[in-house]
Amino acid sequence: MNLHRSIELGVNVDHIATLRQARGVNYPDPMQGADIARKAGADGITVHLREDRRHIQDYDVTNIRKNIALPLNFEMAATSEMLAIAKVICPAECCLVPEKRAELTTEGGLEVALQQDILSEFISELKRSDIRVSLFIDPDPVQVEASKNVGADIVELHTGSYAEAGVESVDGELQRIVNGASLAHGLGLQVNAGHGLHYQNVAAVAAIPEIVCLNIGHSIMARAVLTGLHEAVFTMKQIMIKARLAAEEVEA
Ligand code: PXP
Repeated sequence: MNLHRSIELGVNVDHIATLRQARGVNYPDPMQGADIARKAGADGITVHLREDRRHIQDYDVTNIRKNIALPLNFEMAATSEMLAIAKVICPAECCLVPEKRAELTTEGGLEVALQQDILSEFISELKRSDIRVSLFIDPDPVQVEASKNVGADIVELHTGSYAEAGVESVDGELQRIVNGASLAHGLGLQVNAGHGLHYQNVAAVAAIPEIVCLNIGHSIMARAVLTGLHEAVFTMKQIMIKARLAAEEVEA
C-alpha cells in the first residue's frame, strides 16, 4: 500500500444536530452543514447515530446519504439495530465505536482484542453489503493487530489522549499514534485518525505519512460559530430594520 502524499478531511456534522436538538426545532440542518463542508473542500462526511439519538436523527443520515455527493462515514455501535440501519443506508464506510449512554462523547477506543469472534461476524455482515469497515481504536499494537485479524479495512486511531496530553506527555502520545499508524499500514490497513483535533494540535498528526484521513467535528463547528457570528448578527438586524421601515411606511 502506498504512503499518502495528500491528506483527507472528513467533517463530522454531529454538533450541528446537537444545536438543533437543544431547542427541538428544525434548524440548523446537518445536511446543509455537510453541503457547506463539501463546497469548502471536505473529502467526506461523518455522522454518529447514537443509540439515544442525542444529536443525529435517522432522517439526517438518510438525507445526507441521498443528497450529499461525498463518501459517508457512518459511526455506530456494533448492535443489531445499527447493523439493520447500515444495511439500508449503505454508506461508503461504517466506523464501529464503543458507546456508553453517560459519556459526553466517545471516550475510548473499541476493545477489539477481547471481542474478536463477535466483531468478525459483525464485520462480515457489513462487508456483505459492500460497506468498508473501520474500527475506532486506541493506538495500541494489540488493538491494531486484532483489527487486522477481525477483517477490518480501516483503523481510525483515537487521538483523544494526544489532544488532552500536557506538555510532559504530548510527545509520547504522538509517538504512540506514529507507531500505531506505521504498524497498521504495514498490515495493509487504511489508517485514519480523529477525536479532539483542533487548529493548534492537528499539524503534527496531519504530517504522519501513513494517515489517509482525519475526522474532525467539534473544533470546526466551534470555529464556525465565531467566524459566522458577524454575518448572523448583521442579517438579523437588517431584517428588523426593514420590517420597522415597512411598518412606518404603511402608517404614513
Ligand atoms: N472520530 C470518531 C470515531 C468520533 O467518535 C468523533 C467524535 O464524534 C470524532 C472522530 C470527531 O471528534 P471531534 O468532534 O472531537 O473532532
